[in-house]
Amino acid sequence: MPIEVKNLVHVYMPGTPFEAHALKGVSLAVRDGEFVGIIGHTGSGKSTLISHLNGLEKSEPGAVFVNGMDLGDKGADLIAVRRAVGLVFQYPEYQLFEETVAKDVAFGPSNLKLPAEEIERRVSEAILRVGLDPSVSDKSPFELSGGQKRRVAIAGVLAMQPSILILDEPAAGLDPAGRREMLSLIRNIHDSGTTVVMVSHSMDDVGRCCDRLFVLNRGEIAFSGTPAEVFLHDEALHGMGLDVPECAKLANRLRREGFDIPEGLFREEEVCAAILNHLGKGGKQPC
Ligand SMILES: Nc1ncnc2c1ncn2[C@@H]1O[C@H](COP(=O)(O)OP(=O)(O)OP(=O)(O)O)[C@@H](O)[C@H]1O
Ligand SMILES: [Mg+2]
Repeated sequence: MPIEVKNLVHVYMPGTPFEAHALKGVSLAVRDGEFVGIIGHTGSGKSTLISHLNGLEKSEPGAVFVNGMDLGDKGADLIAVRRAVGLVFQYPEYQLFEETVAKDVAFGPSNLKLPAEEIERRVSEAILRVGLDPSVSDKSPFELSGGQKRRVAIAGVLAMQPSILILDEPAAGLDPAGRREMLSLIRNIHDSGTTVVMVSHSMDDVGRCCDRLFVLNRGEIAFSGTPAEVFLHDEALHGMGLDVPECAKLANRLRREGFDIPEGLFREEEVCAAILNHLGKGGKQPC
């Protein structure tokens, strides 16, 4: 199992007036090759949770296992863990600092003390993988657009060749076209064999990309399952400040009103087909 989290608790500033119980006993597992989404309202604990997944934070009480290794163990090889788990923070472009794109992308692999040719190979491959033109390599990252800068930051993580990629709100702040491109880029990375965990506020985005979702609410897992299973709980999710995709809402509402619409539909085309099928069989007419 690439990632296993058991009963994880995280309290910020314990014993002070600012004490915040960010995680209150979270357990989850991510399977090999999965694309998992973590969703939740602001402050629900998403970023805190993922910061535990490469050993940045200590897990106490509770335990985090990466590829079977207990990160709480005194002898845990945190360098191996950080190679296996690539963590892309929210707005990662703010962390670019080198004079050129190529140097920025090379930063991680250079710390691995790899031979120069291997570093060069990884850098050009990562730049292509994030859909940037190789001509950006010698430019300053600061000459690029916001979306391009974010790709450079992701390339820097991919150049470490992680087997697990974790991204915190990778589409945040991008325009609709930029969001679509970013999600398609992440799907391509997943399709090439990387296990992906993506934090998001957007039910539409996770519905489109993810095999399985974990919904965090005030530091606890409220729901988990396939997007179709999770979207059945539209009313409870609404109470947590989350909206399911419009088509899931429509399908759930029609079903509650007696329409013969199967459970678990949330894509536009499947909901349309189910409504037409219902009407074609002489089912209840819309008011
Ligand atoms: N460094 C910190 N010090 C104190 N409290 C913190 C700190 N970081 C987060 N918190 C608190 O922990 C809780 C969980 O925060 P976290 O950032 O993990 O949530 P999130 O789901 O990632 O939110 P967002 O969607 O806004 O990114 C919140 O109540 C937050 O105020
Ligand atoms: Mg966050």
